[in-house]
Amino acid sequence: MAKVVVVTSGKGGVGKTTTTAALGAALAQTGDKVAVVDFDVGLRNLDLVMGAERRVVFDLINVARGEANLSQALIRDRRVDSLYLLAASQTRDKDALTEEGVAAVILQLRERFDWIICDSPAGIERGATLAMRFADLAIVVTNPEVSSVRDSDRIIGLLDSKTVKAERGERMEKFLLLTRYDAARAARGDMLSVEDVLDILSIPLLGIVPESRDVLRASNIGAPVSIGNLASPAAIAYIDAARRLGGVPVPLVRPEERKSLFGRFFTRRAA
Ligand SMILES: Nc1ncnc2c1ncn2[C@@H]1O[C@H](COP(=O)(O)OP(=O)(O)OP(=O)(O)O)[C@@H](O)[C@H]1O
Ligand SMILES: [Mg+2]
Repeated sequence: MAKVVVVTSGKGGVGKTTTTAALGAALAQTGDKVAVVDFDVGLRNLDLVMGAERRVVFDLINVARGEANLSQALIRDRRVDSLYLLAASQTRDKDALTEEGVAAVILQLRERFDWIICDSPAGIERGATLAMRFADLAIVVTNPEVSSVRDSDRIIGLLDSKTVKAERGERMEKFLLLTRYDAARAARGDMLSVEDVLDILSIPLLGIVPESRDVLRASNIGAPVSIGNLASPAAIAYIDAARRLGGVPVPLVRPEERKSLFGRFFTRRAA
């Protein structure tokens, strides 16, 4: 059965679009049919990260308004066969997207895909609530800093109140994806620790994506980081997170634990 996933955060610039592309590509590489959908009307970025900006003819709003059909608007990825993009419009005003229109598009996508991954705009306004409205599960992208954690907390509140699932009294599944994690800065106390973030947000951890230059490099060449350099720690983190999302119990070693394991090993050797 199709799963609709919203990638959301509240705060801007934390890595939602990067995450949507990377998880989408990683899931599609397992053979699942995946659609990544850009809800960031006006700012449209997902097409760039996917390397498809020159191929956008019709977008989400066109399909929502019945001006184009889904097949005309979906852009098939040139690298991964089962990966498709539904782009956002760059020009129209944000109110062009209605709840009825989004409902109709999501319903059609559910018939054709295993995963529909919705890239939310920043903020807690209409665009963000429309992106989450029909989701089955949410990935809350958070950076290890106070302002990001606070915004994620607000988004979790909205996920539990403004979604169709919540209104039906069903539990919205929510996962935390900690991104731009810098182990050295965390060790110096310049960043919140994984524990700190988990204590505040209390939702299950899907993965930890390290701060990595590979992310910028990947977006400059228009390729999701998970299909570029597979030795990159960011790529590995996204591939593992995608597998967990697919139900594979991939162990998740937190950076602090890795350090303490190393510390113990070192002490033993030294003794
Ligand atoms: N793990 C990472 N390491 C280094 N840079 C990253 C990482 N993740 C994201 N970035 C960079 O952070 C910037 C913002 O990322 P992205 O566009 O994915 O965030 P966003 O949450 O979608 O932003 P917006 O709220 O504006 O839509 C980009 O320049 C991206 O390359
Ligand atoms: Mg974005």
